[in-house]
Amino acid sequence: MIDLRSDTVTRPSPAMLAAMTRAETGDDVWGDDPTVLRLQARLAEEAGKEAGLFFPSGTQSNLAALMAHCGRGDEYIVGQLAHTYKYEGGGAAVLGSIQPQPLDNAEDGSIPLERIAAAIKPLDDHFARTRLLALENTIGGKVLPAAYVAEATQLARARGLATHLDGARVFNAAVASSQSLKALTEGFDSVSICFSKGLGAPVGSVLVGSRALIDSAHRWRKVLGGGMRQAGVLAAACLYALDHNVARLADDHANAARLAAGLVQIDQVKVSSQATNMVFAQFPQADCAPLEAWLKERGILTQMLYASRFVTHLDVSAADIDTFVAAVKSYFAR
Ligand SMILES: Cc1ncc(COP(=O)(O)O)c(C=O)c1O
Repeated sequence: MIDLRSDTVTRPSPAMLAAMTRAETGDDVWGDDPTVLRLQARLAEEAGKEAGLFFPSGTQSNLAALMAHCGRGDEYIVGQLAHTYKYEGGGAAVLGSIQPQPLDNAEDGSIPLERIAAAIKPLDDHFARTRLLALENTIGGKVLPAAYVAEATQLARARGLATHLDGARVFNAAVASSQSLKALTEGFDSVSICFSKGLGAPVGSVLVGSRALIDSAHRWRKVLGGGMRQAGVLAAACLYALDHNVARLADDHANAARLAAGLVQIDQVKVSSQATNMVFAQFPQADCAPLEAWLKERGILTQMLYASRFVTHLDVSAADIDTFVAAVKSYFAR
């Protein structure tokens, strides 16, 4: 199957699986797993932070970070479109007793500075205490402008807020914008980085930040049930991904551009954006379900909505993109 629904659908390659079977392991709850320790230290160093912590998922890594930054009755400022706010089951509020203050994202994924400044509540017992600004990069595939990130994190700091980055796809941002991981994470007190998206690992995220922040997140990880034992088999997949699957993200970005260029030629389709490995396009509502079925019959998995998202990844080739575009064309030409 050609699966364009998400970059989370990749399967570990034989070479990645081999690296996993060779992993040295120990009990990571005891801090004994050498492969986990190596992954954490490596990512912390690459991101210019003091420490790292391995998590089973990006959702849990983000949540533990929010809980490390904010206490009960505190508030975090976040975009309406952000994963931590919109797609993580309201975990900050449900499990963290943290009130989100969502703000509309601009077209480029940023949260305009004046909206952030206006949303920071004064110290007053009537209000939740605004503690944290959370951004996401990439967001909807888009790389946040570097100047914006610098200004937003400076604004937060000047107003006494901490900063968190959901960097689930920060390596896509790094490759697309030719910035180092360190440059992209500078200015943030914590950054959550996923390996189970474009990097092709089956499981795993790493949270990086100061030693104190990571110590606090470590406690919350335990509370959230994320302490894992011989997790080195999973960390080995992440280390393999760091060595082999970062630079090749450029292929995914080229394939997404190819997909967008193919869809643009089809009158019934309106491509609304393409950035890094994501393409968003609109289809006539009445065609969504039949087109999704048509594609499935031809071995192509999509989630066809009025505004559909197509995501490229290491299990999708340029030839697969051409097959997909040809199948959409044949549907509308039938
Ligand atoms: C931007 C972003 N952040 C966080 C997550 C959560 O990651 P996980 O699915 O590992 O919980 C996702 C998942 O797709 C995501 O797209």
